[in-house]
Amino acid sequence: MANKNISMAVIRRLPKYYRYLADLLARDINRISSKELSEIIGFTASQIRQDLNNFGGFGQQGYGYNVEALHKEIGKILGLDKKYKTVLIGAGNLGQALLNYAGFRNAGFDIGAVFDANPKMIGLKIRDYEILDSDDIEKYVLENNVDIAILCIPKNGAQEVADKLVGVGVKGIWNFAPIDLEVPSDVIVESVNLTESLFTLSYLMKERDDEE
Ligand code: NAI
Repeated sequence: MANKNISMAVIRRLPKYYRYLADLLARDINRISSKELSEIIGFTASQIRQDLNNFGGFGQQGYGYNVEALHKEIGKILGLDKKYKTVLIGAGNLGQALLNYAGFRNAGFDIGAVFDANPKMIGLKIRDYEILDSDDIEKYVLENNVDIAILCIPKNGAQEVADKLVGVGVKGIWNFAPIDLEVPSDVIVESVNLTESLFTLSYLMKERDDEE
């Protein structure tokens, strides 16, 4: 597969490039130098050139980068030119917050169905979604070739739900439950943990205070 040797550090920076380039496009800016890009993104110009060279060097000496072409290419590298069939599991506080955010759908991650295990939740509507019984997840996944499951359930039970999903062919899990899921090597788990991010903030503030 192409780009197999790109370091994870570079991959983790790509969404940021993508977001800033989208902002530039929205402002009708079609051409940008690595120096200007560096000023807005905060990475050094040489870091930017190095990162983007990994993918074939989109820039031209003396011209800079074509914003639209670069945005499109990075989108492709991130797989955003694909459409993913997605389900959300756990329609509690976090699940509902995610459902209420339109940005994921706009980026091609259309949530097809929402499941919950609580009988009191089943049948209720959030936005356009009627909450379905989580006992029916496997059937739904099989019938709809679901690619990605968004897990917004407590950590107890999360591994069991992940096993079920993997068993019926889900290949990507966006995991918000505070647990390191065990999955076969062909399944990708991307975990998000806001608490870890908050603890990082706390550390950095403490470090700054210690320096003063
Ligand atoms: P919540 O209690 O409001 O919602 C959880 C929902 O999951 C409930 O509706 C419950 O009925 C349902 N549920 C429980 N077990 C289930 C199962 N086996 N199958 C289907 N549905 C099931 O909780 P909240 O606040 O929405 O948090 C959900 C999860 O997300 C928790 O694990 C929490 O720790 C985590 N969380 C993670 C964050 C992060 O940054 N990663 C931030 C906030 C919450």
